[in-house]
Amino acid sequence: MADHTSRSIGPIVLLGPPGAGKGTQAKLIAEHYDIPQISTGDLLRAHVKNGTQLGAMAKDIMARGDLVPDELLYDMVAERLREADCSRGFILDGFPRTAAQAGWLDAYFEHEVFDKPNRARCLPIVIRIDVDYNDLLLRLTGRRTCPVCGHIYNVHLQPPRVDELCDLDGSKLVTRNDDREDVIRERLQAYDSQTRPVAEYYARKGRLVSVAGMLPVDQVSQQIFQEIERHAPGA
Ligand code: AP5
Repeated sequence: MADHTSRSIGPIVLLGPPGAGKGTQAKLIAEHYDIPQISTGDLLRAHVKNGTQLGAMAKDIMARGDLVPDELLYDMVAERLREADCSRGFILDGFPRTAAQAGWLDAYFEHEVFDKPNRARCLPIVIRIDVDYNDLLLRLTGRRTCPVCGHIYNVHLQPPRVDELCDLDGSKLVTRNDDREDVIRERLQAYDSQTRPVAEYYARKGRLVSVAGMLPVDQVSQQIFQEIERHAPGA
């Protein structure tokens, strides 16, 4: 059997409310299987930072905690999925998060992925990370991120060794501007009204698995790796 860093893994979709640990787990999966993490939140934040037209349209919407309109996401995601590093598989972190985005993604897989040789020939495994509402607030208000390497910390739950500095490269950690309590509530509401139906959509298709996200990070990863191994085309 081929090694897990050379065989096909296929598409992995991570679902879960803001603060569930999608970014934390996506980075660990990416490292373990040597496949890219594709976070629509990170891609949009890069557009905002670089002052692109898309960034200008998304900036205020993201600052309020609302979802960016579906049609603004599609070209950005399609372009990223066509890059060569996606050929063995990839992790979608934060996409799809509306029923329309899920339908778009299925159509994309049908036409773009399955038609091409050497691409992972399987439907995505959809992994939902479940966490209680009150813990989400603690996780989001305590989150700090390294602006250089992207490592994620939590001042309450996973603090850096030196206050406010990244363990890996010593950079000063930053707080995301949508991690304010009023904005967090909006984001959680957007998840309830618009993203829960996405989980139902995949459950109806028999593609949804859930993991207990309340456990320590490494135990959540173990559950996720088991599910991926069960599903991966080359396993
Ligand atoms: P996005 O960047 O995707 O944010 P999100 O979905 O709100 O998710 P987060 O990044 O806040 O949380 P996470 O689940 O990744 O948790 P993390 O691992 O950091 O989206 C931002 C915005 O962009 C949206 O509001 C929207 O406007 C727009 N957008 C993005 N995609 C879109 C789309 N598809 N359509 C429309 N609009 C879109 O962990 C959180 C904290 O918990 C950290 O401090 C971490 O250290 C800690 N933690 C993690 N795991 C554990 C654990 N097991 N135990 C204890 N602590 C833990």
